[in-house]
Amino acid sequence: MRRLYTKAYAKLNLSLDITGLRPDGYHELIMVMQTTTLYDNVALERLTEADGIRSHSNLRYIPNDNRNLAVKAASAFFEYTGIRSGVSINIKKNIPVGSGMGGGSADAAAVLRGLNQMHGFPLDRKALEDLGATVGSDVPFCIAGGTQLAEGRGEILKDLPPLPDCSIVICKPAFSISTPELYRRIDDTEILHHPDTPALLRGLEAGDLKLVAENMYNVFEETPLEQFVTVRKIRQCLSEHGALGSMMTGSGSAVFGIFEDAEKAARAQEDLKTEYPFCFLVRNRKAIRLR
Ligand code: C5P
Repeated sequence: MRRLYTKAYAKLNLSLDITGLRPDGYHELIMVMQTTTLYDNVALERLTEADGIRSHSNLRYIPNDNRNLAVKAASAFFEYTGIRSGVSINIKKNIPVGSGMGGGSADAAAVLRGLNQMHGFPLDRKALEDLGATVGSDVPFCIAGGTQLAEGRGEILKDLPPLPDCSIVICKPAFSISTPELYRRIDDTEILHHPDTPALLRGLEAGDLKLVAENMYNVFEETPLEQFVTVRKIRQCLSEHGALGSMMTGSGSAVFGIFEDAEKAARAQEDLKTEYPFCFLVRNRKAIRLR
């Protein structure tokens, strides 16, 4: 196989809890994560080892060197498997950058899945996830996606019953927050509320969308940042339009609301779009079949 086209799906956090600081400087997390139908297009073309790893995207400000998680993933794949080959990676970004939707991680996971297929499936899911963890904390989840519980740095994964079908309105305000900076800020913040993850898991188990949505919560929203006024404003708007629940995803800045009623969701998106150009109406997506 010389060429391969694949999709890199955006993730949302249905919950994000921080339970401690690890000796390696990372944070101990408990997150429920969900794949959506929003995706970047990733095209791979096999090259020779001498050609190396080349990367392009439709956004000029995205680096094409080793700072790009997709490039890091390809180099990790060749190094780990010992396969002597090169690859050209072409990415069309639809997932907003700096949104907390794991766009870079999704691209990296798509490269790992794609190279694995291109080279006859030398790695199983667990090996791809372990390799993904060396690239970035959200990459392991993005390998199979669907609905999963992620713990540790984000690499200890457990498949969960799928989120019941719903409409999801995602709104990305203009500002972005640096992930390491937000982690530093939360270290200086007393976290007063934690998500009730067991209640959220009961909601998934029972297929009860309302119970899931009501228990969505992100501890990062407690950080006293001026920009989070906008996050609260968007959440308020989503709730007025009938969202069953809303929250900021990951380290932001995208905010989303879960709707049972597709028409209400469409009206919320229309309304938010007048103020925030990056608004998406998407759905939840089930796990990706790896072969
Ligand atoms: O692993 P990744 O490069 O995606 O993480 C980006 C940054 O987020 C890290 O440098 C670290 O500051 C922070 N982080 C953390 N704890 C985690 C995941 C990420 O402190 N579990």
